[in-house]
Amino acid sequence: MSRYWSKLVHSLTPYVPGEQPKINNLIKLNTNENPYGPSPKVIAALQKEATDNLRLYPDPNSDALKQAIAEYHGLSSNQVFVGNGSDEVLAHVFNALLKHEKPILFPDITYSFYPVYCGLYEIAFETIPLNDAFEIKVEDYFKANGGIIFPNPNAPTGRLLALSEIERLLQHNSQSVVVVDEAYVDFGGESAVALVNRYPQLLVTHTLSKARSLAGLRVGYAVGHPDLIDALHRVKDSFNSYPLDRFAQAGAIAAMQDKAYFEETRQHVIKTRDTVVESLTSMGFEVLPSGANFIFARHPHHDAEALASSLRERKIIIRHFKKPTRVAQFLRITIGTDNECQALVDSLKSILKV
Ligand SMILES: Cc1ncc(COP(=O)(O)O)c(C=O)c1O
Repeated sequence: MSRYWSKLVHSLTPYVPGEQPKINNLIKLNTNENPYGPSPKVIAALQKEATDNLRLYPDPNSDALKQAIAEYHGLSSNQVFVGNGSDEVLAHVFNALLKHEKPILFPDITYSFYPVYCGLYEIAFETIPLNDAFEIKVEDYFKANGGIIFPNPNAPTGRLLALSEIERLLQHNSQSVVVVDEAYVDFGGESAVALVNRYPQLLVTHTLSKARSLAGLRVGYAVGHPDLIDALHRVKDSFNSYPLDRFAQAGAIAAMQDKAYFEETRQHVIKTRDTVVESLTSMGFEVLPSGANFIFARHPHHDAEALASSLRERKIIIRHFKKPTRVAQFLRITIGTDNECQALVDSLKSILKV
């Protein structure tokens, strides 16, 4: 504790991201990255960008990238906001759209950055318990609130909410913003982007870190009504005019445009996920239905923390949330390549002696 810190800093409990170990030869299944590299067109675009032009500031508005995102979704570019990873986009969303008198609502088991943003921006929140099957029940959100946010599929459960349920929520909640965080939607969900032209209170966030294999480039975006986007620009331009550098803008445009590569890699991840689910289920794991590039699983007879450390001894890292919640016995496992997942299954078989 420093006497020089502001009162706010004293009160913060920062988010702790999954480990990025500096050890070679690890099978890294802990932070939901894509096991496949980005499109070769992205690499070519990045190489092309490495010129003397780097002495110049990038486009502060990322106009070409917004245009590429708008075209991909069949929207106009005034419905698109971009940021340095969807974490930055979300930070601005909390500040610009979710800070009101009433508490905001999000699930009790969800992306653990949400309460951290609430701490940073001093936003009151109320957590709404998932049901016993770890599903979001939209009726539970039919009450006065300062805003609603949840990921779809949810993280870390991987469970999907049907688009019709999201629409039902929007019909019951027109007085505050509903944010659907679609970081993982391309691995099996129905995107709520289809609803943004009909519901001005809906904001949908996406990232290029997962299905587009660009966690290292840091690009995320939000789409919604131009008024919501305007609010985000007002906050962004009061914070950092150039959140996306020249590489990020060029690489992200190429990634949004290479639909064939995107389709191929996401389908591969989905297929591998289905195989892993089958193998783990046959070993006695309970695996929640997943629409994401990770699975959430527990074994009735094996302690989650012990399993995670046994895997680690075998150089496989997965994520175990140590908090004493009802998901303490679950493991979150990112879907890797077929070989990485086979190594995971073989190691679990040897640990479980099956
Ligand atoms: C639900 C959810 N939303 C947002 C993010 C942030 O992704 P990024 O900042 O890489 O775009 C993550 C990252 O893991 C996530 O799990």
